[in-house]
Amino acid sequence: MDIGFKGKNILITGAAKGIGRGIALAAAAEGANIGLHYRESEEAALQVAKEISDYGVKVALIKGDIARLKDVKQMKETLDHELGSVNFIVNNAGWAQVKSFFKYEPEEWIREVDICFYGVLNLVHTFMPEMIGKNQGKFINIVGDSARTGDRNLIVSAAARSGAISFLKSLAIDVGRNNVQCNTVSLGLIDQGELGFSEVELEKVIKQYPLNRIGKADDVKGMVLFLLSDSADWITGQVISINGGHSMLG
Ligand SMILES: NC(=O)c1ccc[n+]([C@@H]2O[C@H](COP(=O)([O-])OP(=O)(O)OC[C@H]3O[C@@H](n4cnc5c(N)ncnc54)[C@H](OP(=O)(O)O)[C@@H]3O)[C@@H](O)[C@H]2O)c1
Repeated sequence: MDIGFKGKNILITGAAKGIGRGIALAAAAEGANIGLHYRESEEAALQVAKEISDYGVKVALIKGDIARLKDVKQMKETLDHELGSVNFIVNNAGWAQVKSFFKYEPEEWIREVDICFYGVLNLVHTFMPEMIGKNQGKFINIVGDSARTGDRNLIVSAAARSGAISFLKSLAIDVGRNNVQCNTVSLGLIDQGELGFSEVELEKVIKQYPLNRIGKADDVKGMVLFLLSDSADWITGQVISINGGHSMLG
Protein backbone atom coordinates (compact mmCIF):
# COMPACT_ATOMS: atom_id res chain seq x y z
CA MET A 1 0.00 0.00 0.00
CA ASP A 2 1.32 3.46 -0.92
CA ILE A 3 1.10 5.59 2.22
CA GLY A 4 1.89 8.82 0.38
CA PHE A 5 5.52 9.29 1.40
CA LYS A 6 7.14 9.32 -2.05
CA GLY A 7 8.88 12.65 -2.62
CA LYS A 8 7.93 13.95 0.86
CA ASN A 9 10.70 15.50 2.99
CA ILE A 10 10.60 14.38 6.62
CA LEU A 11 12.77 15.84 9.36
CA ILE A 12 13.42 13.37 12.19
CA THR A 13 15.35 14.73 15.17
CA GLY A 14 17.70 12.57 17.23
CA ALA A 15 17.70 10.00 14.45
CA ALA A 16 21.26 8.67 14.65
CA LYS A 17 20.31 5.93 17.09
CA GLY A 18 17.51 4.09 18.85
CA ILE A 19 13.87 4.94 18.19
CA GLY A 20 14.64 7.87 15.86
CA ARG A 21 16.88 5.71 13.70
CA GLY A 22 14.10 3.11 13.40
CA ILE A 23 11.59 5.77 12.32
CA ALA A 24 14.03 7.29 9.81
CA LEU A 25 14.78 3.94 8.16
CA ALA A 26 11.10 2.98 8.06
CA ALA A 27 10.12 6.31 6.45
CA ALA A 28 12.95 5.99 3.91
CA ALA A 29 11.76 2.47 3.05
CA GLU A 30 8.38 4.06 2.17
CA GLY A 31 10.06 6.50 -0.24
CA ALA A 32 10.45 9.64 1.91
CA ASN A 33 13.52 11.85 1.74
CA ILE A 34 14.98 12.20 5.20
CA GLY A 35 16.37 15.17 7.09
CA LEU A 36 18.49 13.17 9.51
CA HIS A 37 19.18 15.22 12.59
CA TYR A 38 21.73 14.48 15.29
CA ARG A 39 23.54 16.48 17.93
CA GLU A 40 26.58 14.49 19.07
CA SER A 41 26.31 11.03 17.48
CA GLU A 42 28.00 11.93 14.21
CA GLU A 43 29.49 8.54 13.42
CA ALA A 44 26.19 6.75 14.00
CA ALA A 45 24.36 9.40 11.94
CA LEU A 46 26.73 8.87 9.00
CA GLN A 47 26.04 5.13 9.15
CA VAL A 48 22.25 5.64 9.20
CA ALA A 49 22.54 8.13 6.32
CA LYS A 50 24.28 5.45 4.29
CA GLU A 51 21.54 2.91 5.10
CA ILE A 52 18.90 5.47 4.10
CA SER A 53 20.61 6.17 0.74
CA ASP A 54 20.40 2.44 0.00
CA TYR A 55 16.61 2.94 -0.31
CA GLY A 56 17.24 5.31 -3.25
CA VAL A 57 15.89 8.38 -1.44
CA LYS A 58 17.65 11.63 -0.57
CA VAL A 59 19.11 12.18 2.88
CA ALA A 60 20.46 15.38 4.40
CA LEU A 61 22.48 15.22 7.60
CA ILE A 62 21.88 18.10 9.95
CA LYS A 63 23.42 18.81 13.30
CA GLY A 64 22.15 21.07 16.06
CA ASP A 65 20.91 21.62 19.58
CA ILE A 66 17.11 21.88 19.36
CA ALA A 67 17.12 23.91 22.58
CA ARG A 68 18.85 26.74 20.66
CA LEU A 69 16.65 28.63 18.21
CA LYS A 70 19.77 29.72 16.29
CA ASP A 71 20.73 26.08 15.68
CA VAL A 72 17.21 25.18 14.57
CA LYS A 73 17.16 28.08 12.07
CA GLN A 74 20.51 26.86 10.73
CA MET A 75 19.06 23.33 10.44
CA LYS A 76 16.26 24.74 8.29
CA GLU A 77 18.68 26.59 6.02
CA THR A 78 20.67 23.42 5.44
CA LEU A 79 17.53 21.37 4.78
CA ASP A 80 16.09 23.98 2.40
CA HIS A 81 19.34 23.89 0.47
CA GLU A 82 19.80 20.11 0.41
CA LEU A 83 16.24 18.71 0.30
CA GLY A 84 13.81 21.58 -0.18
CA SER A 85 11.07 22.49 2.29
CA VAL A 86 10.08 20.05 4.99
CA ASN A 87 6.63 18.42 4.76
CA PHE A 88 6.59 16.56 8.08
CA ILE A 89 8.52 16.66 11.35
CA VAL A 90 9.03 13.97 13.96
CA ASN A 91 10.63 15.46 17.04
CA ASN A 92 12.17 12.41 18.64
CA ALA A 93 15.13 14.17 20.31
CA GLY A 94 14.96 14.43 24.05
CA TRP A 95 16.80 14.33 27.31
CA ALA A 96 15.48 13.04 30.60
CA GLN A 97 17.34 12.74 33.89
CA VAL A 98 16.22 9.97 36.22
CA LYS A 99 16.21 11.24 39.81
CA SER A 100 14.22 12.96 42.52
CA PHE A 101 13.58 16.68 42.06
CA PHE A 102 15.53 17.33 45.26
CA LYS A 103 18.72 16.01 43.65
CA TYR A 104 18.55 18.61 40.85
CA GLU A 105 20.67 21.70 40.40
CA PRO A 106 18.74 24.59 38.78
CA GLU A 107 20.87 24.50 35.62
CA GLU A 108 19.95 20.81 35.20
CA TRP A 109 16.20 21.40 35.29
CA ILE A 110 16.55 24.42 33.03
CA ARG A 111 18.42 22.36 30.45
CA GLU A 112 15.81 19.60 30.52
CA VAL A 113 12.97 22.08 30.02
CA ASP A 114 14.98 23.83 27.29
CA ILE A 115 15.23 20.58 25.33
CA CYS A 116 11.89 18.89 26.06
CA PHE A 117 9.66 21.98 25.96
CA TYR A 118 11.40 24.89 24.24
CA GLY A 119 12.91 22.50 21.67
CA VAL A 120 9.37 21.80 20.42
CA LEU A 121 8.55 25.53 20.25
CA ASN A 122 11.81 26.24 18.39
CA LEU A 123 11.00 23.60 15.76
CA VAL A 124 7.40 24.72 15.35
CA HIS A 125 8.33 28.41 15.15
CA THR A 126 10.99 27.71 12.52
CA PHE A 127 9.32 25.11 10.31
CA MET A 128 5.55 25.39 10.67
CA PRO A 129 4.92 28.76 8.94
CA GLU A 130 5.96 27.11 5.67
CA MET A 131 3.57 24.19 6.30
CA ILE A 132 0.77 26.67 6.97
CA GLY A 133 1.64 28.54 3.75
CA LYS A 134 1.47 25.33 1.73
CA ASN A 135 -1.71 24.16 3.44
CA GLN A 136 -0.15 20.83 4.34
CA GLY A 137 2.01 19.54 7.18
CA LYS A 138 2.28 17.18 10.12
CA PHE A 139 4.19 17.49 13.39
CA ILE A 140 4.66 14.61 15.79
CA ASN A 141 6.30 14.98 19.17
CA ILE A 142 7.58 11.91 20.98
CA VAL A 143 7.33 11.89 24.77
CA GLY A 144 7.40 9.36 27.59
CA ASP A 145 4.20 8.21 29.29
CA SER A 146 5.43 9.95 32.44
CA ALA A 147 4.17 13.16 30.78
CA ARG A 148 0.63 11.73 31.07
CA THR A 149 0.88 9.84 34.34
CA GLY A 150 3.60 11.59 36.36
CA ASP A 151 6.74 9.83 37.61
CA ARG A 152 8.68 10.88 40.68
CA ASN A 153 12.00 9.99 39.04
CA LEU A 154 11.27 11.66 35.69
CA ILE A 155 9.69 14.68 37.29
CA VAL A 156 11.17 17.47 35.19
CA SER A 157 11.03 15.87 31.73
CA ALA A 158 7.47 14.72 32.53
CA ALA A 159 6.45 18.28 33.37
CA ALA A 160 8.21 19.77 30.36
CA ARG A 161 6.64 17.24 28.02
CA SER A 162 3.23 17.60 29.58
CA GLY A 163 3.61 21.27 28.63
CA ALA A 164 4.56 20.23 25.09
CA ILE A 165 1.41 18.06 24.89
CA SER A 166 -0.71 21.04 25.89
CA PHE A 167 1.14 23.32 23.45
CA LEU A 168 0.51 20.92 20.55
CA LYS A 169 -3.19 20.60 21.42
CA SER A 170 -3.64 24.37 21.32
CA LEU A 171 -1.53 24.57 18.17
CA ALA A 172 -3.61 21.83 16.54
CA ILE A 173 -6.69 24.00 17.04
CA ASP A 174 -4.91 27.00 15.54
CA VAL A 175 -3.40 25.34 12.46
CA GLY A 176 -6.12 22.78 11.71
CA ARG A 177 -7.75 25.13 9.19
CA ASN A 178 -4.40 25.11 7.36
CA ASN A 179 -4.47 21.32 7.09
CA VAL A 180 -1.56 20.91 9.51
CA GLN A 181 -1.91 18.07 12.03
CA CYS A 182 -0.11 18.03 15.39
CA ASN A 183 -0.03 14.87 17.50
CA THR A 184 1.94 13.34 20.36
CA VAL A 185 3.19 9.77 20.57
CA SER A 186 3.74 8.75 24.17
CA LEU A 187 6.00 5.81 24.99
CA GLY A 188 6.42 3.26 27.71
CA LEU A 189 9.88 1.81 28.33
CA ILE A 190 11.59 0.95 25.04
CA ASP A 191 14.79 -1.08 24.89
CA GLN A 192 16.99 0.76 22.39
CA GLY A 193 20.13 -1.05 23.52
CA GLU A 194 21.23 1.46 26.17
CA LEU A 195 18.91 0.84 29.15
CA GLY A 196 21.58 -0.51 31.47
CA PHE A 197 19.22 -2.47 33.80
CA SER A 198 20.34 -5.59 35.66
CA GLU A 199 18.29 -8.74 35.03
CA VAL A 200 16.57 -8.42 38.41
CA GLU A 201 15.66 -4.76 37.77
CA LEU A 202 14.36 -5.62 34.32
CA GLU A 203 12.15 -8.43 35.68
CA LYS A 204 10.59 -5.99 38.16
CA VAL A 205 9.87 -3.50 35.40
CA ILE A 206 8.36 -6.10 33.06
CA LYS A 207 5.84 -7.04 35.78
CA GLN A 208 4.26 -3.60 35.31
CA TYR A 209 3.50 -4.31 31.64
CA PRO A 210 0.30 -6.28 30.87
CA LEU A 211 1.84 -7.38 27.56
CA ASN A 212 4.66 -8.92 29.59
CA ARG A 213 7.63 -7.27 27.97
CA ILE A 214 9.12 -3.84 27.49
CA GLY A 215 9.01 -2.26 24.03
CA LYS A 216 11.41 -2.42 21.09
CA ALA A 217 12.28 0.46 18.74
CA ASP A 218 10.31 -1.44 16.08
CA ASP A 219 7.12 -1.14 18.17
CA VAL A 220 7.09 2.63 17.65
CA LYS A 221 7.61 3.17 13.92
CA GLY A 222 4.22 1.80 12.74
CA MET A 223 2.20 4.39 14.68
CA VAL A 224 4.49 7.25 13.66
CA LEU A 225 4.30 6.29 9.99
CA PHE A 226 0.53 5.97 10.24
CA LEU A 227 0.19 9.44 11.81
CA LEU A 228 2.29 10.91 9.00
CA SER A 229 0.35 9.08 6.30
CA ASP A 230 -2.65 10.26 4.26
CA SER A 231 -4.82 7.88 6.32
CA ALA A 232 -4.33 10.11 9.39
CA ASP A 233 -5.38 13.39 7.74
CA TRP A 234 -8.33 13.71 10.15
CA ILE A 235 -6.37 13.03 13.34
CA THR A 236 -5.01 16.01 15.24
CA GLY A 237 -4.38 17.20 18.78
CA GLN A 238 -4.23 13.63 20.06
CA VAL A 239 -1.91 11.77 22.42
CA ILE A 240 -1.44 8.16 21.44
CA SER A 241 0.38 5.80 23.76
CA ILE A 242 2.55 2.88 22.75
CA ASN A 243 3.22 1.29 26.09
CA GLY A 244 2.36 -2.41 26.29
CA GLY A 245 -0.69 -1.47 28.36
CA HIS A 246 1.41 0.07 31.14
CA SER A 247 -1.06 2.91 31.67
CA MET A 248 -4.61 3.19 30.41
CA LEU A 249 -5.73 6.71 31.19
CA GLY A 250 -8.64 8.40 29.49
N1 LIG B 1 13.76 4.58 25.30
C1 LIG B 1 12.72 4.74 26.12
O1 LIG B 1 12.41 3.88 26.97
C2 LIG B 1 11.87 5.97 26.04
C3 LIG B 1 10.71 6.03 26.84
C4 LIG B 1 9.93 7.15 26.78
C5 LIG B 1 10.28 8.20 25.94
N2 LIG B 1 11.42 8.12 25.20
C6 LIG B 1 11.75 9.25 24.34
O2 LIG B 1 11.81 8.79 22.99
C7 LIG B 1 12.83 9.53 22.28
C8 LIG B 1 13.84 8.54 21.67
O3 LIG B 1 14.41 7.79 22.72
P1 LIG B 1 15.71 6.90 22.59
O4 LIG B 1 15.74 6.10 23.84
O5 LIG B 1 15.77 6.22 21.28
O6 LIG B 1 16.94 7.95 22.53
P2 LIG B 1 17.50 9.04 23.52
O7 LIG B 1 18.90 8.73 23.75
O8 LIG B 1 16.64 9.23 24.72
O9 LIG B 1 17.39 10.42 22.69
C9 LIG B 1 17.39 10.52 21.31
C10 LIG B 1 18.36 11.55 20.82
O10 LIG B 1 18.05 12.86 21.28
C11 LIG B 1 19.16 13.64 20.90
N3 LIG B 1 19.27 14.84 21.73
C12 LIG B 1 19.41 14.92 23.08
N4 LIG B 1 19.50 16.23 23.44
C13 LIG B 1 19.42 16.96 22.30
C14 LIG B 1 19.45 18.35 22.02
N5 LIG B 1 19.60 19.29 22.97
N6 LIG B 1 19.32 18.75 20.74
C15 LIG B 1 19.19 17.86 19.76
N7 LIG B 1 19.15 16.53 19.96
C16 LIG B 1 19.27 16.08 21.22
C17 LIG B 1 20.40 12.77 21.03
O11 LIG B 1 21.12 12.88 19.80
P3 LIG B 1 22.72 12.64 19.71
O12 LIG B 1 22.94 11.24 20.20
O13 LIG B 1 23.04 12.83 18.27
O14 LIG B 1 23.36 13.68 20.59
C18 LIG B 1 19.79 11.38 21.23
O15 LIG B 1 20.41 10.39 20.46
C19 LIG B 1 13.47 10.47 23.30
O16 LIG B 1 12.86 11.73 23.21
C20 LIG B 1 13.15 9.81 24.62
O17 LIG B 1 13.13 10.73 25.71
C21 LIG B 1 12.21 7.04 25.23
